[in-house]
Amino acid sequence: MIEEIKKLVEEAMELIEKAQSLDELAAVDLEYSGKKGKLTALLKTLGLLAPDERKIVGQACNNAKNTVSESIDKKRSYFNDQAIARELDVPSFDPTLPSIPPGTTTGSYHPVSVVQASVERVFEQMGFKILDYYEAESDWFNFEGLNIPKDHPARDMQDTFWMKSGNLLRTHTSPGQLRSMKEFEPPFRAIFPGRVFRYERTDASHEHTFHQVEGIMIDKNLSVSNLIAIMKILLEAIFEREVTIRLRPGYFPFVEPGFELDIQCMTCGGGGCPVCKHSGWVELLPCGLIHPNVIRAGGLDPTQWNGWAFGLGLTRLAMMKYKINHITHFMSGDLRFLSQFKAGGAK
Ligand code: PHE
Repeated sequence: MIEEIKKLVEEAMELIEKAQSLDELAAVDLEYSGKKGKLTALLKTLGLLAPDERKIVGQACNNAKNTVSESIDKKRSYFNDQAIARELDVPSFDPTLPSIPPGTTTGSYHPVSVVQASVERVFEQMGFKILDYYEAESDWFNFEGLNIPKDHPARDMQDTFWMKSGNLLRTHTSPGQLRSMKEFEPPFRAIFPGRVFRYERTDASHEHTFHQVEGIMIDKNLSVSNLIAIMKILLEAIFEREVTIRLRPGYFPFVEPGFELDIQCMTCGGGGCPVCKHSGWVELLPCGLIHPNVIRAGGLDPTQWNGWAFGLGLTRLAMMKYKINHITHFMSGDLRFLSQFKAGGAK
């Protein structure tokens, strides 16, 4: 019996040695250790043996099965390793392909997107939500709810593309003030960047389509100093230097008090130059504390909640940052302009 077992093991080992594939290994496994395998068959005959012998033969038989399956496992992992190595060996690119011709553009971010992303990054860090609202709006969200009733002269501040339905292309991102107040439980803070549209004649600094980012914070007892603090953090992050700002009174029906925030001219440092029209200051963004009527229109109680809002022209900011002298470049689709703003790297 023992001899027979030894012979079977030798046979199996030889087959394992010779096996060229996982399939062949599986066949050996089946032939010797499988349910109907030769070693299994031997085990089944143990009952015919005398008890002493049974023990010895049984043990030998089990050892044999173990030896065979260990060898099979070893060879199996050898095959697997080889398969992985073969896969890794195939180069992931074809080095014989011709290279991209020098000077070929691989695409780049639009300068407004670069500036928008940096604004978003600053506000994200301060816990602001970043929201995306509609480009087509109703009269109520764009004007009425923002304390600009029909026939009010303040409507003339913004030239408007009206649709036959009575809706319009939003003239500013301020409808987001009402939409966010209706959408979120106060207190909250949010910015909403996006495209806005005005029925204007094009010149160096006016275009029918441009980008703004609006920001609001709704809480209890917010003050102008909260607003100033956040505006300074924003501007210093964007211009990557210390900035000096000032507030002048400014009129917007949806804020009270309302301001124009100016930044000290970074070209001349405040001494006066053509960029700041010799005033030392450059008008940058309007802002203010949200008018109680607007808080109410947003569905909140103005005796409980207040807030501030600002509206920043992203397109103008990009013009300042990159010293772009004509707004029409932005939508020109001209690659000579666009390719100067490399993916992520442009500052
Ligand atoms: N929505 C105004 C505009 O586009 C800007 C603004 C926003 C003013 C928020 C004050 C507060 O002219």
